Amino acid sequence: MEIQTSSGRFAEADVWALAVAVFKDEKADEGFLKDLDAAAGGLVRAVLESEELKGKEGETAYLHLSPSGGGIKAKRLLLVGVGERADYRAAQVSQFAGAAVRALRSRSVKTVGLVPRLEGADAALVASASVEGAVMGLFEPDKYRTIEKEERAVERLVVVVEGADGGALRRGAERGRIVGESANFTRDLANEPGAYMTPTIMAERAQGLANEFGLEIDVLDQPRIEQEGMGAFLSVARGSDQPPKMMVLKYMPDGKTGIEDGEDYLALVGKGITFDTGGISIKPSENMELMKYDMTGGATVLGVMRAVAQLKPPIPVLGVVPATENMPSGKATKPGDVVRAMTGKTIEVINTDAEGRLILADAVAYAKKLGATRVIDMATLTGAVSIALGDVNTGILGTDQELIDEVIESGREVGEKFWQLPLDKEYTKQIKSDIADIKNVGGRKAGTITAAAFIKEFADGISWAHLDIAGTAWGDEAKPFRAKGPTGVAVRTLLNFIERASRRAAVNGGSGGEK
Ligand code: BES
Ligand code: ZN
Ligand code: ZN
Repeated sequence: MEIQTSSGRFAEADVWALAVAVFKDEKADEGFLKDLDAAAGGLVRAVLESEELKGKEGETAYLHLSPSGGGIKAKRLLLVGVGERADYRAAQVSQFAGAAVRALRSRSVKTVGLVPRLEGADAALVASASVEGAVMGLFEPDKYRTIEKEERAVERLVVVVEGADGGALRRGAERGRIVGESANFTRDLANEPGAYMTPTIMAERAQGLANEFGLEIDVLDQPRIEQEGMGAFLSVARGSDQPPKMMVLKYMPDGKTGIEDGEDYLALVGKGITFDTGGISIKPSENMELMKYDMTGGATVLGVMRAVAQLKPPIPVLGVVPATENMPSGKATKPGDVVRAMTGKTIEVINTDAEGRLILADAVAYAKKLGATRVIDMATLTGAVSIALGDVNTGILGTDQELIDEVIESGREVGEKFWQLPLDKEYTKQIKSDIADIKNVGGRKAGTITAAAFIKEFADGISWAHLDIAGTAWGDEAKPFRAKGPTGVAVRTLLNFIERASRRAAVNGGSGGEK
């Protein structure tokens, strides 16, 4: 898709269809809609007065403009409800853009103009939100369909912000493209069936993006994972015929060669279970096919690193992705087995289906070994988080309240919601083992919290936050602004987090500043 921006008049946009945001209960006789209505020969007023469209989020009305040529160059007008004007921010612009391009593609429109109408806002932010929303809106998880596949494409997108600075618009649009495509990269990996997304293939994809965008990468194979003593990670891989991989991606700002002692170093760590059968504690077959997305945390790290390599923030970022299948076999770890993590801690494996925390234990420890001072891990870790928070909020827990607050705020700005769960030390009692240091499950109560309490045992001495994306990484239903299936959740939040941290580092005079 070709992406353009315009600071000119909406009426002049050279596209087949123009999509315009309309606020809840907005009237056609004042402000922007008055101009639009005049140019559209009274059609907008007719639609609003008949209450065909009330401006509720996601509502659309598709209008054919006069063929004899009215005041608008476009042939079609799509009105898109965006809800309350007072709540309209970049996050809603992104949803507006997604809903607009999806509605127009379904009508075979090839060239689209977007009029996001976030008046008074930073033009780069508006352009970025519009483009990322449109790029993500057009993603379809139908790669393996040969019939009824979505073959139509929006070929050209023009973001129209009248009177805006052209340079800011172009910069924003470019950022939006990078962010949207990187979130779609994550979604594409998450959507792949287990047979096509083994640890080896995932590592090849990581290698591919590192080559394409210029990142340093190290993929640890089984012998090196053994050398590092990652017994918790290996205990999960044991049952599988597919060898495990630990992907390590490093982004360094231009001119920086390494991390100095005591320097702030952010690491993103993501669970990469390419298929979770549960292992010997095997899962019921109902919905087990969905366990192909149990590597979404890892795919999220790869998506973020892909964007970071292009956006080039002034702070270094480390990405660590342990990848393995979780399979039952004659070689698989059995309930009751005791394994030794990289840190030397011993773990009694009560349930082989609680495998995510085992691989994250060694991955977090490895990030620490590589010098990370702040770690954000992300994982489709517990079914319990969907019971608690559904598909609306991602669960967040951790040991550094400032870090947690910063992730939550970064998410709020891009329209991704996080809800913190408590992590009091009392919960750690639930994972005490009779025969080893800790056990990998903590009973039925507070499943999301005890899973985090387990990872916390490997995150001492660093600032740490954990995102449980099990409920939010997969959308069971389509939304007006996106297809059903993998959502790409947290990619945009983490990129915003990194950019916010970069701005703070700049204010403090270099990356070694504020923690
Ligand atoms: N991958 C699952 C969690 C999951 C469930 C993700 C549903 C997405 C949708 C994880 O490895 C798992 O099986 N967790 C168990 C833990 C239990 C055995 C303590 C769970 O949540 O049931
Ligand atoms: Zn599991
Ligand atoms: Zn799992």
